[in-house]
Amino acid sequence: METFTFYNPTKLIFGKDQVEQLKEQVPQYGNKVLLVYGGGSIKRNGLYDQVTGLLKEIGAEVHELSGVEPNPRLTTAEKGIKICKDEGIEFILAVGGGSVIDCTKLIAAGAKYDGEAWDLVTKKAFAKEALPFGTVLTLAATGSEMNAGSVITNAETQEKYGWGSPVTFPKFSILDPQNTFTVPQDQTIYGIVDMMSHLFEQYYHNTKNTPVQDQLIEGVLRTVIETAPKLVNDLENYELRETILYCGTLALNGMLQMGYRGDWASHNIEHAVSAVYDIPHAGGLAILFPNWMKHNLEVNEARFAQMAVRVFGVDPEGKSDRQIGEEGIERLRQFWTEIGAPSTLADYEIGDDKIDVMADKAMINGEFGNFKKLNKEDVVQILTASL
Ligand code: NZQ
Ligand code: ZN
Repeated sequence: METFTFYNPTKLIFGKDQVEQLKEQVPQYGNKVLLVYGGGSIKRNGLYDQVTGLLKEIGAEVHELSGVEPNPRLTTAEKGIKICKDEGIEFILAVGGGSVIDCTKLIAAGAKYDGEAWDLVTKKAFAKEALPFGTVLTLAATGSEMNAGSVITNAETQEKYGWGSPVTFPKFSILDPQNTFTVPQDQTIYGIVDMMSHLFEQYYHNTKNTPVQDQLIEGVLRTVIETAPKLVNDLENYELRETILYCGTLALNGMLQMGYRGDWASHNIEHAVSAVYDIPHAGGLAILFPNWMKHNLEVNEARFAQMAVRVFGVDPEGKSDRQIGEEGIERLRQFWTEIGAPSTLADYEIGDDKIDVMADKAMINGEFGNFKKLNKEDVVQILTASL
């Protein structure tokens, strides 16, 4: 293992009807609340009425920012920052999926920063302070509810970057599986692909002696693989939603990434793809990740073989690590296809005309990836294999 410091101050409140806890949590931070949400799903499923009812009960002064886009935009966060500054907002409540939470993180930090919010995203400035914020999560996917990361898109320049700071952890996050019942089948599938991708990003490293970390990740992956096919055909099943919701949080709250650095190259390439084409984050990952795996199999064939055997049940008898690893990658492709995820860029009608543009965007900070450093030629090859 490498040396590490673990820090995660988010209070996780999990289970049926826990939204009620807003009444105890919110008043700890202030009375002037900015409620941030997306394109209207929470109005259709009744969560908006429930949350605003609870805020009313505690006498909060509520301002609203609605319309946060999937792949949240800088311009939307800027609107929220303006409301915070103009109205003296004391606490922000994000009700939604990863996009709403990520946008809220930039609003919280931007409200305490005098320059342009984009400076925080591009790391020209580091967020030292933020307004306190909490979340009510409605979609199992990103882990944003219990991490400090945020991914923001500048639509004007077609750039999409991740950023974060120790001040951008939510103070609390409320996860009631019932609030994910209305997530449609396609978004449910994307969420499953995203959390699995987070687990793969962490698993592929070259640090020695990480048996606990390996088996924790393998265990969460096996659980997702067992649960997902049932869930996509039974969207209102409480227990299946509960399992997937917990897996999504565990996959990216830092608990599984102690003592080594994950890879994160596939996420970097995907952010370049969705910056140019505005496709769902996990749609891009489902296409790119198996091709990243094939491209990097030779870096550590034994590690791919371990994953194939322990997670995908590949029979190792009489096969080389390379063959076992290849079979594992094929099983992953099959699994994602079977649950309904896309497998080629053509599924989004993306051709080869902007491969160079996307590769340049992915290379903006130079070579990347911790399992293996990728250069532009590697990225072009992975994108080309994904067509
Ligand atoms: O906007 P509304 O109307 O709420 O609809 C949303 C949206 O259209 C809908 N939805 C959410 N909860 C629902 C629901 N529909 C019905 N019922 C519900 N309960 O689902 C759609 C997608 O929502 P979104 O928040 O965009 O999805 P997700 O949670 O997958 O977030 C994706 C964003 O997170 C970033 C991605 O790049 C992308 O921008 N990521 C953030 C990370 C982080 N902060 O740690 C890590 C991830 O790797 C990822 O990059
Ligand atoms: Zn992701």
